[in-house]
Amino acid sequence: PLTTTGELISRAAAARSAVPAFNIITLEHVEAVVAGAEAAGAPVVLQVSENAVRFRHGRLLPLARAATAAAERARVPVALHLDHVRSDDLLRQAADAGFSSVMYDASHLPYDRNLAATRAAVGLVHAQGLWIEAELGEVGGKDGAPPLDAHAPGARTDPDEARAFVNDSGVDALAVAIGSAHAMTTRTAVLDHTLLARLGAALGVPLVLHGSSGVPDDELRAAVAGGVAKVNIGTALNIAMTGAVRDFLTTHPEVVDPRKYLSTARDAMVETVTRLIRALCARPAP
Ligand code: G3H
Ligand code: ZN
Repeated sequence: PLTTTGELISRAAAARSAVPAFNIITLEHVEAVVAGAEAAGAPVVLQVSENAVRFRHGRLLPLARAATAAAERARVPVALHLDHVRSDDLLRQAADAGFSSVMYDASHLPYDRNLAATRAAVGLVHAQGLWIEAELGEVGGKDGAPPLDAHAPGARTDPDEARAFVNDSGVDALAVAIGSAHAMTTRTAVLDHTLLARLGAALGVPLVLHGSSGVPDDELRAAVAGGVAKVNIGTALNIAMTGAVRDFLTTHPEVVDPRKYLSTARDAMVETVTRLIRALCARPAP
């Protein structure tokens, strides 16, 4: 059934576990994420990024309606989240389109401007009764940018700044930069667990890990043990989808029916979702 992100995150945070949030681009992503979560028997968040809305010619409803329909029929709880939003117009559409939460991303701005913009976004989003996440310190690799140098200023979240940012903005959760980067196609990210522990101790809100496709399973589990309650995964699905399509078309050059290669793509994404959810739920190595 359709549920809310706030509900899933509060339950996960209380249990020291995490909710996986998968980025959806096509209908096949939607179906695969729900099927994978059902196979793993775990709740999941379907998230639509502002980039994905742009790909849909700026229209939110086609994907939102598909995600809502899939969530309502799902055998596990499913919530809808709007991801990496910068546009106020999109923020205003969130609740009506069926989303229970939003990530507002002004992390590219200097601290004061990020705070001011985020505070305004919190007002808009809370007025709709929704949950909101923001970002401080920048997780690199967005919009095709190369991953930031993990040691560059701004590439890590400062715990004192983060405490002030959370208090002054009123956000419900914070995306933190602790060594992951977006769009990695190898799982080689090394997280700063000392920093994560300091952030966990400094902040009274759940933490969100972005760029989780590049983070190895054991590092993901350690991050959850350290206070990460929402794990954002996008690229891993696209690696599975594109790899399956590429293999299929190479071995079946005569095929023209898209259902043939989209089926293998969907199956590959189901497998990835199931495997990642199971890996997240497994106990960390002692
Ligand atoms: O907000 C989305 C995530 O941070 C996805 O990152 O595509 O590197 O897994 P990823
Ligand atoms: Zn992200």
